[in-house]
This record gives sequence, structure tokens and C-alpha cells, in this order.
Amino acid sequence: MFYANAGFPERFKWGVATAAYQIEGATNEDGKGESIWDRFCHIPGRIYNNDTGDIACDHYHRYKEDVRLMKELGIPSYRYSIAWSRIFPRGYGDINQKGLDFYKRLTGELLENGIEPFVTLYHWDLPQALQDEGGWTNPATADHFMAYCETVFKALGGQVKNWMTLNEPWVASFNGHYWGNFAPGLRDFSAALAAGHNLLRAHGLAVRSFRQMGLDGEIGIVLNLCPREPASDAPEDINAAVRNDGFGNRWFLDPLFKGSYPLNMESYYASQGVVLPKISAGDMKLIGEKIDFLGVNYYYIDFTKATPGNWPLGYKTVPGPYPVTLYGWPVVERGLTDLLIRLKIDYNPPKLYVTENGASYPDVINIKGEILDDIRIDYLERHILACYKAIETGVPLSGYFVWSLIDNFEWSTGFKNTFGLIYLNKQTQERIIKRSGIWYSNIIRRNGIFSD
Ligand code: FCB
Repeated sequence: MFYANAGFPERFKWGVATAAYQIEGATNEDGKGESIWDRFCHIPGRIYNNDTGDIACDHYHRYKEDVRLMKELGIPSYRYSIAWSRIFPRGYGDINQKGLDFYKRLTGELLENGIEPFVTLYHWDLPQALQDEGGWTNPATADHFMAYCETVFKALGGQVKNWMTLNEPWVASFNGHYWGNFAPGLRDFSAALAAGHNLLRAHGLAVRSFRQMGLDGEIGIVLNLCPREPASDAPEDINAAVRNDGFGNRWFLDPLFKGSYPLNMESYYASQGVVLPKISAGDMKLIGEKIDFLGVNYYYIDFTKATPGNWPLGYKTVPGPYPVTLYGWPVVERGLTDLLIRLKIDYNPPKLYVTENGASYPDVINIKGEILDDIRIDYLERHILACYKAIETGVPLSGYFVWSLIDNFEWSTGFKNTFGLIYLNKQTQERIIKRSGIWYSNIIRRNGIFSD
């Protein structure tokens, strides 16, 4: 515990976050279609321990219990995502009413318990039928996304006032289409850039529809932003860190806020033989549609070392001089303060939320059945104080969401990386609030971190 006297602004929103595929289970129920994650997890060897999200936290059936736990902890805001394939099992065409009804029930339950919904429209689980038509590399997928969003806006627009179009388009593009460790598991850099462009177009189309429908509320996008620092003072490492920043941060921020991809990255990619995305007339205007807030997912800093053989970016990530979490991610809270300040200076979004932040550590249940995860508390405390510092310098940060409400299916690492404030017993589906959950509940109650 540091000495702290960090009182947050009055209307600051405290929350927790989850995503549909990571918690819901019931992947083949009530008319849901197959998603790319359903398909990907069932390919042997793709996921740690061959885990899948088939059951996950069984939240589809236990959402009332989960809402009750949130209420018990006094959590005021909840960020969750909608599975597109529950609403349109094939991505477009006939609506599956039962899928929509689930989200109406869940949202109603939240509102009845005084919890404010923050809805992500796309957290990576594309309907497989659309993947079969080219997925995000096909520009038509963006139009289908718009139609899906319009359906959800109509159904839930009266209840939900905070919308996020996409979660982390960089991860969906590059982990999904270049490194191939995430669905759909492709390995083609140019395809990843094409997918990224269509994801951004999809975002713009959804924002435009939202405005045209005259809905009350706010809409934004969630990016995973990660400061890049050179591994040494060598000029080649500094250049590599600048390229890595262009690749991971500016490639998405610049089109959203400045109307173009970073020119230096375009020419760099061209020099490496990468095929740049096809930009049609009006695309950049569409992508730059005004948003009400930017959501930031922050976990760590990327330490970057020049590695000329590594096509196309010529760098690799190396461990920095910091302790790491179970995931191997360095714990560097100053990265969050610096990032938030940089976003204000370089992009000036009207409002910011930290839409995800948290840590995976091995959790041990003691003989009393408690999980005393002080190390997670330490991580959260450092990062919440980092937010406070940014607010003090004038950053319009309006909320903070812990990843995650509950231990869940962590993509390619299966159930290994547990981030929850609530422990999940996968055999029995029992939930146990960890010490970090109680701790966070107190932070919320006092609206800040105080040493007394
Ligand atoms: C983010 C994802 C989220 C979760 C955390 C640990 O990249 O948005 O679903 O997996 O990482």
C-alpha cells in the first residue's frame, strides 16, 4: 500500500468488464450460430490445454447470480459484449429473437439492480458463416456489421446509453490474421491490414447509424494501446520503438482522429512489400465519424529491440526491467499515466475511459476457502493511482473498468490466466469473491484510494 489521498471526480464511473465468448457458454443454444471462436477452439492444439468457451462461466444461465454478485460488491457499471451470432446466426438475414431476448433479460436485470450497462458490439466472435465469405478481409462484412448494430440499437437502445463498436481491432486484425494465434488463425500481414481497414469501416458505419437513428446516449471504440519503449538508447532500438508504435497505436488512432493512416508507416510498409489496404472514396471520412469517447485497454509497456531479420517490422519485444504477471506482462503503471496524457495531447478525445485493466496471477484457495490475492490488489492500486495522476493533469478520464468481473476463458491461453475479482470453480461453477473484489468494492464506495 502506498500513501495515497486520491479522491476521484464525483461522477467517475467504476466498473468491471467481460466479453460474451469468454463467459457465456451455451454456444449452441437457443438458435445461436457458430462463431469463429467456436470453430477455432475446436481445432486441437490451438488453445492451451485444448480449453474452449463451450461452457466458460455458464453466464448464459447464471447471469442473475453474476448480476447479484456485482450488486453485492456495489459495482455501478458493467461492460459486456453481445455475441453477433446469437442475433444473426449466419451474420445477416433472419433475426434470432431468442438471442436478442437474452440480452434484453440481462440488460433489464442490470438496470433493475442499478447497474449501468456499457455494451461492446464486437468482441472478436464473428459469425463463422461470414468468415466463410472472407470475414473481415471482405468489405461486405462491414455492411453486415452495420445491419446487426442497427438491430441491436433498435432492441436495446431504450435501455443502453453507452455503446462501444469494436474491442481492440488491432488484436482482431493481427492476432487473428497475421500471428494466427487467435481466430480465424490466418498468417498473412497484408490480410491483417485489410481486415483492420474493414473493421475501422465497420466502426464508422455503426457510429453513423447510431447518429442517424437519433439514439440517446454515447458511442465510442475500444483500442488496446500500449506504449512502446526502446530496449536501449541505441538509435536502431529507438527507431524500432517508433515503428512499433506506428504499427500498434497510431495505425488505429490516426484514422479515427486525424483522417489518415500514418504516412511514415504507409511508406515503410510499401518498402517491405506489404500490400496496403484498398481505401475507397469516403472511407477515411467514415472512419473519422465523431465519437463521444475513446475506450483504452491498458495492461503493459512493450520494450522494443531492433531485429532486422524480423519481417516486416524489424523488431522484437524483450522483457523490460519490471516484474511480470502470470501472462508475462510487465507491471509498469507509469505507462498508463503517460499514455492517457499522450492521448489528450496528440488526439484530444472528448472523453476517455479505461475500459480494461487488470492482472492475471495464480490464485490459491486457502483452507478457509478464501483467495487472498494481494498481488492483484497491488497491481490494481498502482494503476488506479496512475489514472488519478492523469486526471490531475487535466486528462478527461471518466471511468475505469477492471478486467475482469470473474475468471474466464482467456482466448489462446484457455483458463490458465485468471484475471477475475471473482474466482470461478470450473468443475462446480461456484463463484467466490476474492480479496481483490472486496478491496475494489471499498475503492468504489469511497470513490478513490485513501491511506487512512
Ligand atoms: C484484452 C481483451 C480481453 C482480455 C484481456 C486480458 O486484450 O480485450 O478480452 O482477454 O485482454
